[in-house]
Amino acid sequence: MKISNELKNVSDSHNSQQSNIPTAYSLQPAASLPLLFLAPMAGVTNSIFRRICKERGADILTTEFLSADGIMHRNARTQQYLNFVEEERPLGVQLFGGDPERLAEAARAVVDWVKPDFIDLNFGCPVNKVVCRHGGSSLLRDCPTLEKIAQTVVKAVAPLPVTAKIRIGWDEKSINATTTARLLEGAGIQRIAVHGRTRSQGYSGRANWDVIADVVQAVRVPVIGNGDIAEAADVLQHLSTGVAGFMIGRAAMTNPWIFSEIRSLLRGDSLPFQPTLEARWELIRRHCREEIELKKNEAAAMSSMRARLMAYTKGFPGARPLREKISKVSSLGELESLLLPIVEENLQG
Ligand SMILES: Cc1cc2nc3c(=O)[nH]c(=O)nc-3n(C[C@H](O)[C@H](O)[C@H](O)COP(=O)(O)O)c2cc1C
Repeated sequence: MKISNELKNVSDSHNSQQSNIPTAYSLQPAASLPLLFLAPMAGVTNSIFRRICKERGADILTTEFLSADGIMHRNARTQQYLNFVEEERPLGVQLFGGDPERLAEAARAVVDWVKPDFIDLNFGCPVNKVVCRHGGSSLLRDCPTLEKIAQTVVKAVAPLPVTAKIRIGWDEKSINATTTARLLEGAGIQRIAVHGRTRSQGYSGRANWDVIADVVQAVRVPVIGNGDIAEAADVLQHLSTGVAGFMIGRAAMTNPWIFSEIRSLLRGDSLPFQPTLEARWELIRRHCREEIELKKNEAAAMSSMRARLMAYTKGFPGARPLREKISKVSSLGELESLLLPIVEENLQG
């Protein structure tokens, strides 16, 4: 009952705040429940994993970040990252870079090539390689360029919506998410996802949802909250921020069912049954098979899956000794011989 009332307040406040502005596109569920986003994650959120999450309740998907330069060089690898299937819509392509014209050109090219539903601009990546090239979170320290990038890309791809993903600031002394969000809104950005950490935090400390709540108050465009949603129930403590949606990253790597679990809670239902070990194994096997099919090389595919397998098997009985073996696995048969006995043992139990 408490949950439903909280939700009603959230959706009322959205309706009044957002009545005169276009939503990014039409996928706003009738009941105005917060939307659920799979966070873009480099090396993780390819088409295979995005579909896995979509089937389990993610509303909106985004590619991992792609460099404007990579796009313009028609780099084969970058083009591969642009692949998606129709079932993934609505899908955004995330771009990063530090040069407004170059980013606009890249965005235009992406729109021509693959016709995504929106372009997302990355103003949050903390990685040195990106920051040194004046991309990602480095733009949080250069608001004029950030604004110019947003304006130029919005104009270049109009009427296609452009969204943005930011961190709350460069470091704790320069938390400027509300300023940044206002500039982005003024530049025509239609939705802003906020990861509640500063650049200098990297992934340490806790995401600051108070700042996310301030951003919701500061702008009229939908704000998506991101950071540290480790399990479905975590969203309940953030409903009062008034965010229009929740973005989930690392938790989905371990448990892609988290989206449908969150949706049940948001509807005021109880949590669905946790996926059984058997269901988790089926998912692991399917993911591996699809990667093998994609790469057409089993050893390469399984090697690229190792980090993913670590995440998927978190909480499996005997997970610790398993990890070392998984870190060397090079075929699906080998993985099956490691995991199937555990699954079967637990079936009998
Ligand atoms: C492996 C990994 C790769 C990431 N790659 C991207 C990226 O390409 N673009 C982006 O905007 N954020 C990226 N992020 C950040 C996530 O989108 C998200 O903001 C962050 O993980 C916090 O959310 P979480 O606590 O739900 O994981 C990445 C995070 C991880 C762990």
